[in-house]
Parts: sequence; C-alpha cells; structure tokens
Amino acid sequence: MILKTPFITFEGTDGAGKSTQIALLKEWLVSHGISVVLTREPGGCETAEAIRELVLSNKSDLGSRGELLLYLAARAENVRQVILPALEQGSWVISDRYADSTFAYQGYGRGLELVELMNLNAIATGGIMPMKTILLDIDVAVGKERVMKGRSELDRLEQSSLDFFERVRHGFLKLADTDSNRFVVVHADKSVDEIQQKIRNALTPYLHGHS
Ligand SMILES: Nc1ncnc2c1ncn2[C@@H]1O[C@H](COP(=O)(O)OP(=O)(O)O)[C@@H](O)[C@H]1O
Ligand SMILES: [Mg+2]
Repeated sequence: MILKTPFITFEGTDGAGKSTQIALLKEWLVSHGISVVLTREPGGCETAEAIRELVLSNKSDLGSRGELLLYLAARAENVRQVILPALEQGSWVISDRYADSTFAYQGYGRGLELVELMNLNAIATGGIMPMKTILLDIDVAVGKERVMKGRSELDRLEQSSLDFFERVRHGFLKLADTDSNRFVVVHADKSVDEIQQKIRNALTPYLHGHS
C-alpha cells in the first residue's frame, strides 16, 4: 500500500524526549497548514489503551511472549482504528513508538528472535511501516534520571534494569544502522530546541506537496 501522507514514528528509550519533541513538531506542522494526528504505543484507541494498562501495570505477571502478543494486538487496533483512517484522510500521523520498539525491546532486550518478530509485526500492521523514524538516542542513566524527576512510582517496564535498557538502546542503534534511509538518529543529550531543529530539518523535504 502506498501512503499519501507521511507516517512518522519516534523511538528511543524512556526519557529520551519523544513526547516533548512530538508536541513541538506538531505545532510546527500545524503552522504549515498540515493536519496532524498523534498516537502512541501501546495505545492510541480505547481498545489499545486498555491493553496498555494491562501491559504496564505492576500487577501483571507477564512473560516475554505474552507481553509481545499484547503489544502486537494493541498495534493492530491502533493501525486499523487510528493510523490508517488518518492517513487515508490526508493527515500526517506521528506515533510515539511503533514497530521498532518491538524489535528493540522484545528482540534485543528480551532476546526473542528478530525475524520472528518482524513476521508477527507484519501480521499486526498489515505491512504498514513508517516513512521516517526519528530515533532519539540517550544514555540510559540520563534518560532514567529524567523520568524519575517528579515521579514517585515507576511502571512495570520502567522498573527493568539498566542492563536491559542498554541492550534496548544498542538494539535501536543497530536497527537504525541497517535501515539508514528510514531512520534519523538524533543525539538527545542536547537542548530541547537543538533537538527539535534537527528533527524539523530532517522532515522539511516532506512539507512540500503534503500540506
Ligand atoms: N533535551 C532535554 N533536556 C533535558 N530534559 C529533557 C529534554 N527533553 C525532555 N526532557 C525532560 O525529560 C523528561 C522526559 O521527557 P519525555 O519527552 O517525556 O521523554 P519520553 O517521552 O521519551 O519518555 C521530561 O520531564 C522532559 O521535560
Ligand atoms: Mg513519552
């Protein structure tokens, strides 16, 4: 399927600045007259947000495979209910996490087979992949420190070890290396404005003909 409008995803470990940068990017796109739909994973629609609660809850006893399939079920609904309809209506779609999070967390982090994950992801998405993926790369300890600020409790995923997040970070960088046309890697230890400028520069070529 050929997408008419850009589907952009943001990836990176917790605290990298995805939510912060997405909000600023949306403002910029809207100022160019572009209609933008934001979504996030897991979540985006009511069904997927219910799955999010289950996946992130500290009360959930989940193994790697159960966790994987819940993420994929949430993604399937996010694609069907939110992403595809928005793209078909000519909006840009920006997703806070998507397929690469599965490859990085469940693959590099949990040790599930990457090829299997890619096949299962294709079942969940019907093959819809982003046009551009912004990877915000951050030292995991710095990211964790940012997340901890103003927070009394961490969710099930946030409580994983630094070692796990190191594997995930390295996984994201490997994925970016093997798909350098799609990925834009931005070092996220800079100021919010500097990072945003880099993201806007990378997306400027897509403004024309899409507004
Ligand atoms: N470039 C930055 N420098 C310092 N702090 C930042 C930066 N970007 C975001 N933050 C702060 O770090 C925390 C996590 O940012 P957030 O955008 O929520 O990250 P993510 O969505 O990737 O987990 C927030 O408190 C945010 O204000
Ligand atoms: Mg966030």
